Amino acid sequence: MNTTASTALPGAPQLAYRQDGLYLEAARLDDLASQYGTPLFVYSKAAMLAALAAYQQGFAGRDAQICYAMKANSSLGVLQVFARAGCGFDIVSGGELERVLAAGGDMRKVIFSGVGKTRSEMRQALTAGIGCFNVESEAELDVLSGVALAMGRIAPVSIRVNPNVDPKTHPYISTGLKGNKFGVAHEDALRIYRYAASLAGLQVVGIDCHIGSQITETTPYLDAMDRILDLVDSIEAAGITIEHIDFGGGLGINYNQDAPPAADALWQELLAKLDARGHGGKKLMVEPGRSLVGNAGVCLTEVLYLKPGEQKNFCVIDAAMNDLPRPAMYQAFHAIVPLEPHRDRQQASYDVVGPVCESGDWIGRDRTLAVAAGDRLAVLSAGAYCMSMASNYNTRGRAAEVLVDGEQTHLIRERETAADTFRGEKLLP
Ligand code: LLP
Repeated sequence: MNTTASTALPGAPQLAYRQDGLYLEAARLDDLASQYGTPLFVYSKAAMLAALAAYQQGFAGRDAQICYAMKANSSLGVLQVFARAGCGFDIVSGGELERVLAAGGDMRKVIFSGVGKTRSEMRQALTAGIGCFNVESEAELDVLSGVALAMGRIAPVSIRVNPNVDPKTHPYISTGLKGNKFGVAHEDALRIYRYAASLAGLQVVGIDCHIGSQITETTPYLDAMDRILDLVDSIEAAGITIEHIDFGGGLGINYNQDAPPAADALWQELLAKLDARGHGGKKLMVEPGRSLVGNAGVCLTEVLYLKPGEQKNFCVIDAAMNDLPRPAMYQAFHAIVPLEPHRDRQQASYDVVGPVCESGDWIGRDRTLAVAAGDRLAVLSAGAYCMSMASNYNTRGRAAEVLVDGEQTHLIRERETAADTFRGEKLLP
């Protein structure tokens, strides 16, 4: 066994092989798996802060607010890292709002997105004093204004505009095209802004868009910015002040030889356009999720069985689609690597699958691995949209989570027991 070049691993630079196996920061992952069991999510705090720093550098000298889209990973320990680093949060439910409160986040830096906010979620957010509601329809404007007036409040609003640009990503995660349920149509936006400005319970403060996720090119962002700035010009010409522009999230990460622009490089180009179009003085907001946490996390798993087959070999692991739903849902690729590379073993091609009773329960297909039962593997780029989308399907308790901070490791979520999974259920009399 030798030191393997860490650059070969898609993921955080904090993830690297040493003589005795794979490390994340100063933590030997095999030791963590022994201590806490598998499947186990492990996150690097340094990797999260480095990803955040790329945005902060991009916005240096600007009035900008980074609102972490916490749907990517809403574990309290992860939220604390971002709250302490000055981030706000992009939330999409009353449940997420409660998580921000529990993690000590600043409510004034919270924005509330989503097409289906309920009245009670609106009341909850108004009571908490969030910074802005990102409204997605005229009907929602009416309801929000009514709810605010009944509470004697004024709700700060931004309207999500659908810029109709193609983010060139998976159809399930592109959101800025016509035919998506999100936002209001670009051609209706001015009329809807006028309407919002006429409602007594609302105060228009901004405009927002979000065109999709796992975007690896700059052009869709530049196009979306042009379309949004066209609107800002006409909304302001109509006498409505736009205090902030929110460009959403969506920047991709490297899962498998993907090469998205770095956040600071992307923003250098976007800010140049903003300045050229005379809006450089406006407050900026962004809602990154995946790009802040995706490559900061891995999921550790143990090989249960090798199952040779006529057409395929299967490597059955103890993590499954309930822990890592992205391959089943989006045919997503996550790199899978051994915690200790066994160069003496014979390589073979495997479909890496979980124990869940579904043919869709695969984590990786046609992967070349040199493995034996009992080996431990790491599923990479597992910091975003894995634990936050995990389920209890097949009555599998959700995995534990550990945050690595240099020499220290913190258990930030205990492994769920079977009893946890049926808490709240009632037996018939
Ligand atoms: N803002 C809004 C309004 C969003 O809908 C989203 C993501 C974000 C920000 C954050 O986007 P990000 O920076 O993470 O790309 N489960 C899928 C991704 C769904 C994204 C949903 N919206 C996946 O695993 O690929």
